[in-house]
Amino acid sequence: MPEVAKLSYGDRQLDLPVHVGSEGEHAVDISKLRAETGLITLDEGYVNTGATSSAITFLDGETGILRYRGYPIESLAEHCDFLEVSYLLIYGKLPTAAELETFRSSILNHSMIHEDMRSFYNSVPRDAHPMAILASVVGAMSAFYQDSLDPQNPRHVEVAIHRLLAKLPTIAAYSYKKSVGQPFMYPQNDLSYCGNFLRMMFATPCEDYQIDPDYVRALDMLFIVHADHEQNCSTSTVRMVGSSNANLFASISAGICALWGPLHGGANEACVQMLEQILADGGNVKKYVDMAKDKKSGFRLMGFGHRVYKNYDPRAKIIKRQCDLLLSKLRIKDPLFHVAQELEEVALNDSYFIEKKLYPNVDFYSGVIYRALGIPVPMFTVLFALGRLPGWIAHWLEMQRSDSKRLCRPRQVYTGPTERPLVPLNERS
Ligand code: ACO
Repeated sequence: MPEVAKLSYGDRQLDLPVHVGSEGEHAVDISKLRAETGLITLDEGYVNTGATSSAITFLDGETGILRYRGYPIESLAEHCDFLEVSYLLIYGKLPTAAELETFRSSILNHSMIHEDMRSFYNSVPRDAHPMAILASVVGAMSAFYQDSLDPQNPRHVEVAIHRLLAKLPTIAAYSYKKSVGQPFMYPQNDLSYCGNFLRMMFATPCEDYQIDPDYVRALDMLFIVHADHEQNCSTSTVRMVGSSNANLFASISAGICALWGPLHGGANEACVQMLEQILADGGNVKKYVDMAKDKKSGFRLMGFGHRVYKNYDPRAKIIKRQCDLLLSKLRIKDPLFHVAQELEEVALNDSYFIEKKLYPNVDFYSGVIYRALGIPVPMFTVLFALGRLPGWIAHWLEMQRSDSKRLCRPRQVYTGPTERPLVPLNERS
């Protein structure tokens, strides 16, 4: 393949360098385009724009491949736990047993939040969405942990990373406890990462909570498959905010807000609500598939379709299998799982979905597992955030350390009025 792309514009000929990634991806470098021709590129929604080079995650949407640091998602989900995968994403290599032990112990021993932060929760309404609380409390970490804010100071960054990983489950569980009016449960450091989170969610001071190892395993798997997905909307947000040298807590808080939207991480909540609606409406799956095909209805199948995957999302495959296993092991007969399976079958055999290459994505079956674990629907996207945290951190860190880091600042094609005279207020009609 040639190493330059040739562009002709008017009477100008330009050679644009082509970068080649380690998996053979080719990208035209247009960074000098404007200086040389006056042109900018236009790509609404960044559908075809590479924002950066990255060595963290590879995904091939055409064939349904996902690898973190070269390791297939299927192997990581089967053989590792979430903290091991977090280490891999953030530090670029699988930890040795000793490295993992040190990392695990640091994370598990910093799970308590600053006591004054607990009073923060008193000032939010009981019915606030837990994602609103999560984003606010993580943003407030910049106020409470001022000794770890400098993105240029490696010690500050390391402490901020450990604090975030250690405290996010506590912050998340407290947002749930707030919504149900129960007392907050302090973390218990001798428990596993996921076991501790489940206990903080479901134990009360009057009644302890028996941690089921099947629940812990399911949660570990869910966190792992959510842990990174290269330049998605929330990760790009974290990078965008971090590019201004904003601190890590502020950058992650912005990422949480981006994740919340129903076209991104909020789709897991929207998907279960959709399945409940179909069930309540008599389980007529075909009616909803037809509605999704009708542009005028404004309805889309939640948990279907993806910007990058034009094949079955490999994460959805893993989650569906785990869902099947968990439900049969716990002897749960969840009618929503059957509606989801039926919906998938009808959609995947429908020419509209076939032609547009719309397949179930990560959010399609995750809600069914969360329900089986007793997680309330408004917490679904919060769990996505817990899983995605190491990916956000890894990208933020990669960008801060990159020699080619620059402030992210896209351009635009202006389409507003050209210059016009200002009419004084008393003369305007
Ligand atoms: N149901 C029905 N039609 C759909 C769906 C869907 N879920 N998704 C895409 N389409 C159609 C669109 O109407 C469009 O049709 P057209 O070409 O005739 O106009 C075509 O497929 C392409 O869709 P776009 O919205 O242009 O694709 P884009 O890449 O911008 O959007 C997205 C991807 C936002 C994920 C979309 O598929 C969607 O809205 N899905 C439902 C929400 C969802 O599940 N989001 C979670 C994604 S995974 C994640 O972020 C964690």
